[in-house]
Amino acid sequence: MTFSDFDTLIIVLCLKKYSVLGGSFSLPPFLTSKIGFRQMANNIIKNSLENHWMPFTDNRGFKIDPRLITEASGVYMTSHKNTKIIDGSSGLFCSPAGHCHPKIIEAVHNQLKKNTYTSPFGMGHPASFELADKVSELTPEEMNHVFFVNSGSEAIDTALKIIMSYNSATGQNRHRFVSRERAYHGVNIGGVSLSGMVNNRRTFPVVMPNVVLMRHTWTGEELKVKGQPKNGAELANDLERFAQAYGGNTIAACFVEPVAGSTGTLVPPEGYLERLREICDEHGILLVFDEVITGFGRMGTPFASQKFDVTPDIMTMAKAITNGSMPMGAVCVKDHIYETVTDNSNPDTIEFFHGYTYSGHPGSCAAGLASLEIYEEEDLFNRANKMSSYFLNSLFSLSDHPLVKDVRGIGMMGGVELHADGNPGKRGTKFQKELFWEGLHVKFTGDSGIVAPMFISEHKHIDEIIEKFRSTLNKHGN
Ligand SMILES: Cc1ncc(COP(=O)(O)O)c(C=O)c1O
Repeated sequence: MTFSDFDTLIIVLCLKKYSVLGGSFSLPPFLTSKIGFRQMANNIIKNSLENHWMPFTDNRGFKIDPRLITEASGVYMTSHKNTKIIDGSSGLFCSPAGHCHPKIIEAVHNQLKKNTYTSPFGMGHPASFELADKVSELTPEEMNHVFFVNSGSEAIDTALKIIMSYNSATGQNRHRFVSRERAYHGVNIGGVSLSGMVNNRRTFPVVMPNVVLMRHTWTGEELKVKGQPKNGAELANDLERFAQAYGGNTIAACFVEPVAGSTGTLVPPEGYLERLREICDEHGILLVFDEVITGFGRMGTPFASQKFDVTPDIMTMAKAITNGSMPMGAVCVKDHIYETVTDNSNPDTIEFFHGYTYSGHPGSCAAGLASLEIYEEEDLFNRANKMSSYFLNSLFSLSDHPLVKDVRGIGMMGGVELHADGNPGKRGTKFQKELFWEGLHVKFTGDSGIVAPMFISEHKHIDEIIEKFRSTLNKHGN
């Protein structure tokens, strides 16, 4: 039998696919004898995962030990090695109603059969207006204007530009922004400028000027506290100090995640958010809640704003707005902000020079509408609220493990911080990989695992998540 280069290529591609899917790759002898064949095979195999530069990933490590999901349903995912993995972080905190919900698939399918794209500039389609109505039914009373984007990062940049436009409309010279240490507000230049996570800023020197960071709220004094820590409200006075130092009337806005998520779940101390609200009111500073993680039920209420009974002026959201099924984010603003910006230009002219080609994409809107319907029909926010104490009790049972430095949590979200092993983050990265092959997905940042189960989870699923976490801790040593 003779093989042309083309035949050889086909065989190699098949073997390559087989190897990516977990099979062991060994070449039949009659092929290895072909001149230059090994070289060619190596090139092709190497390139099989090489071309995709993955986000926030140890790319070199991943390509040696790939972790691919081939399908998912409900709380479970299936890996390319056909192992079953329970999703302990709702993807990236975005899929509370479970993977591949048939209603969402059907809604998107039906929408795309009718309309795959409409320009959002100066024209529209019905679904985006319906979704804006539905979202504003969930937000606090006076927040009824929704601007659609495609991600949390875009929501943050959009919020910054809305604030700048608002100040321009009101003739105020407020050019400073306040954020917080350990904050995560996405990865666009606006979000990185507001970021308080050192690694996310370190290599990007060109960020917005005039951003100051308040201290974060994890003092280390109260460890393993379930819910809101009793102490620390006074940390909000950092905002007052900035107002004194720079002039309150130079500060445009204060951005906070009500519960800081990506840094490992830092729950606001009692009275902290209330104090921020007070200081903002005193100085005319806009308060922005970044609800990209906390929005759509994670706290057992539609938004964290309702959980903590503090209403911001602007809210950013994304992730669970479509149950993670389609890319979408949104900024919701108080009515007077919308009215001030839109009334500030001549009639028949564009009021806000901002928007994305895919703002309010028909497919994403259909996914959003279906997701909100599911949340309502399946009563998922209340379910999250009721499940929270079982979840938190289970999570806090890990507190006694010698590798665990701290456990924090509120609602359906918790952080398990491990003691660092040399370099910060080394243990967390390794541990996340190990968990995956033990059948559990938990997203780690640094050495903190962020556990955020789906709201459809039953007790047995929470048990499975915690048992797998513990058994992997046990294997990891101390
Ligand atoms: C609070 C917060 N803001 C913004 C973002 C950025 O969202 P995206 O990754 O969709 O751009 C995230 C992502 O995790 C987030 O947690």
